[in-house]
Amino acid sequence: MKGPALCRRVGPLVGGFEVPGDKSISHRALLCSAIATSPCKVRGLLQAEDVASTRRAVEAVGARVRNDGACVVVEPPEQLSEPPDVVDCGNSGTSIRLLCGVLSAVRGLSVLTGDASLRRRPMRRVLEPLRQMGATWSARGGDQFPPIALQGGSLRGRRHDLAVASAQVKSALLLAGLFAEGETTVMEPQRSRDHTERMLRAMGVDVRSDGLSVSIEPGRPRGFASEIPGDISSAAFFLCGAAALEGSRVTARKVGINPSRTGVLDVLEAMGAGLSVVNRTEEAGEPRGDVTVVAAPLRGVEISGALVPRLIDELPAIMVVATQATGRTVIRNAAELRVKESDRLASMGEALCGAGARIELLGDGCVIDGPTPLHGVSVRTQFDHRVAMSMAVAQLFMRGAEVRLDDVACIATSFPSFFEVLDELAGAT
Ligand code: S3P
Repeated sequence: MKGPALCRRVGPLVGGFEVPGDKSISHRALLCSAIATSPCKVRGLLQAEDVASTRRAVEAVGARVRNDGACVVVEPPEQLSEPPDVVDCGNSGTSIRLLCGVLSAVRGLSVLTGDASLRRRPMRRVLEPLRQMGATWSARGGDQFPPIALQGGSLRGRRHDLAVASAQVKSALLLAGLFAEGETTVMEPQRSRDHTERMLRAMGVDVRSDGLSVSIEPGRPRGFASEIPGDISSAAFFLCGAAALEGSRVTARKVGINPSRTGVLDVLEAMGAGLSVVNRTEEAGEPRGDVTVVAAPLRGVEISGALVPRLIDELPAIMVVATQATGRTVIRNAAELRVKESDRLASMGEALCGAGARIELLGDGCVIDGPTPLHGVSVRTQFDHRVAMSMAVAQLFMRGAEVRLDDVACIATSFPSFFEVLDELAGAT
């Protein structure tokens, strides 16, 4: 889907659904497989533009990736090689940052770039600690933004104290640590998603977590086979919509429930939604289950501190829910939202206020007073998939009025089948 889209659905949202594979885990599956000692087989890899960027990148450095039915097989090379051309990471921050870690150890020149949104996103947070490990690089705009030119070589392990909790930065440093001399330790101010740690452990690497720090010894992961769970960040749009939309009841099946990602479930429960998780299983270190949300009258909540990294990508959808909850919702310590695919506080503030919501933006969050009836609005998505999908959900609270999204091409970066699932649950098919 490209260009503008008109949304006009009426709820409630009812039914069971599956979402495509987790985006964070899919990137890691490709990257970790590309540096493994033997071929890897992955079922349920997300087929979306961001993951396609990582796939092209690992192919450019020597991995062979082929589709095999519902699986993808990755054959790693003996050793990764210098990419023959500029590596285009498209819209994907995870691709470019994790690749910086791996490519720091690949001899030769790597040049990484991306689309207009990615070329505005901060890269120093990952490049500076890589320099301390011995990597040589330069980047546009006074070493801040892509394109990035990296000269790979020998790396030394060391301890890093991160200023912000970032799984992308942590993962880049851990991946670089696999190729470094000595131990690499990453200390975070709060715990970010730990998919890299879990996957590397499932591949036989010695990764030790202790409170907020994680350490890794150099080594190569061994080949593995695994199934990627559904992406809770994709499921969240429907879980959030259902929580606030009277008469709704939805079940996300086989969705990832890694505790570093389930902050949105904690918030929906604290707001008063009915919530249950059944059929829990675990594979390759990643728990999964069937999550049911039932609509109920909701109340405002406070979201701050260690909870924030556990729901950072779900905050746009949570902002929509908060407009329908009784009382005040306060979101703090979420300045990271300003450096995502767009400045999400600004984009969501503009879109929801345009629809009649009462929102005060803060430097690191916002205050939302509810409930407010929303009316139709024209939305600038800013090429941000989560803004587009959140506002498609917000439309459900407009009693038949329309949301016009100026460009929905961005949705293909993470969830190409989003509108199909939404139509199914809203009974529009
Ligand atoms: C991601 C980490 C998060 C998240 C992003 C995906 C990852 O960013 O917002 O969508 O896959 O590692 P941070 O690195 O800022 O935590």
